[in-house]
Amino acid sequence: MDSLWLTTAKLPSFPALSSDLKTDVLVIGGGLCGLLCAHALTEAGVSCALIEADRIMRGVSARTTAKITSQHRLIYDRLIRSRGVEAAQLYREANEAALGRYRRLCGEIDCGFEEKDAYIFDRTGTAALEREWTAMARAGLHATFDDALPLPFPVAGALRLPHQAQFHPLRFAAAISEGLNIFEQTAALAWDGRAVVTNRGRIAADKVIVATHFPLFNKHGAYFLKLYQHRSYVLALRGAPDVDGMYLDAQETGLSFRNSGEFLLLGGGSHRTGKSGGGYDALRADAKAYYPDAEIAFRWATQDCMTLDGLPYIGQYARSTPDLYVATGFGKWGMTLSMAAATILRDLVLGRSNPCALLFSPSRSMMKPQLLVNGFEAAVSLLTPTRPRCPHMGCALKWNLQEHTWDCACHGSRFTREGKLISGPAAGDLPSVPPQKSK
Ligand code: FES
Repeated sequence: MDSLWLTTAKLPSFPALSSDLKTDVLVIGGGLCGLLCAHALTEAGVSCALIEADRIMRGVSARTTAKITSQHRLIYDRLIRSRGVEAAQLYREANEAALGRYRRLCGEIDCGFEEKDAYIFDRTGTAALEREWTAMARAGLHATFDDALPLPFPVAGALRLPHQAQFHPLRFAAAISEGLNIFEQTAALAWDGRAVVTNRGRIAADKVIVATHFPLFNKHGAYFLKLYQHRSYVLALRGAPDVDGMYLDAQETGLSFRNSGEFLLLGGGSHRTGKSGGGYDALRADAKAYYPDAEIAFRWATQDCMTLDGLPYIGQYARSTPDLYVATGFGKWGMTLSMAAATILRDLVLGRSNPCALLFSPSRSMMKPQLLVNGFEAAVSLLTPTRPRCPHMGCALKWNLQEHTWDCACHGSRFTREGKLISGPAAGDLPSVPPQKSK
């Protein structure tokens, strides 16, 4: 079953690269972030091309809940404690600017853009919300406290941030991709410092932006140490109420709610890729308990790249690669942070200063507790003597009983039952797979 977004939008198609090319900037990756980077650069008058290995907007960007907001769970309290008030203010600024740019662009596009209030709720207590409320105020965001929400269970409290937004991401992407220099079915294979070698020819580019969900090139930047992936799940329910807002549980494994047309989008079941967790089974049980008369019209799962400190990596790919840039690790906030990334990368490519660039620099310190967790996961997985092995870096793959896929806990690559690559960072299929039962 495809996502609601893929079923209700018509995306344009683009030719594959047919000969070698020269461009000022090459963007690799045709998800929302890549398209927004190419759009911002083209608008600034830069000669820019974008290549996509498959077709545009067929990856995680098509499997989102499509919320545009500066309220990202409990991030402001965490940011102030780890990096200070100024960092929280810059984070707010980057996200508010992204929301403003969406507002302007969506004013001319039929993409279901609607202003909605965003809520973070907690069912267990109010202490964390109160800390976040204070932190949001220090960062410059004016939330209000609520304790009565139109959700199917009571909450201890909620923070409401007014005038955020939701939209149809594929209709938006279809409109902004018009007029861009895009090549589909064109996969980047290597970068030699002057050009990107693809399966269809060579593209010489002064600057290259890697916007491929998980960064493509292993040789630089140590992204295999700095990123891991999380899966989460969405059900589109027909016959459930309109909750008139966008709601998210403050707890990592909690539920999210928003409407889209006649559907209520219920999200949750989140877990690290390759590890067990709620998945569709838990989400279906929640839907049945809270909305027994509703019918599941669509369901989809997505996968997010998570960083060591909860902030995305946006900027120079590595200290040693001044002309190679990256945008990745948006956590669960890819719509808003993709727009922030496009603005920052446009400015860096043009040599302009951007006040938020340092906050998101991929070269910031890696000394975070999550680095130890990632190292432990990798060590356990590498030492587990089972087959099949992940072609990315050799970790043991786990059979995912709910989705019938082979999943890698190290960096999140996934494969079909037959061993065909679903999503990277692995770049190819499995040579062979043992037979598996469905349940
Ligand atoms: Fe890196 Fe599997 S995704 S080893």
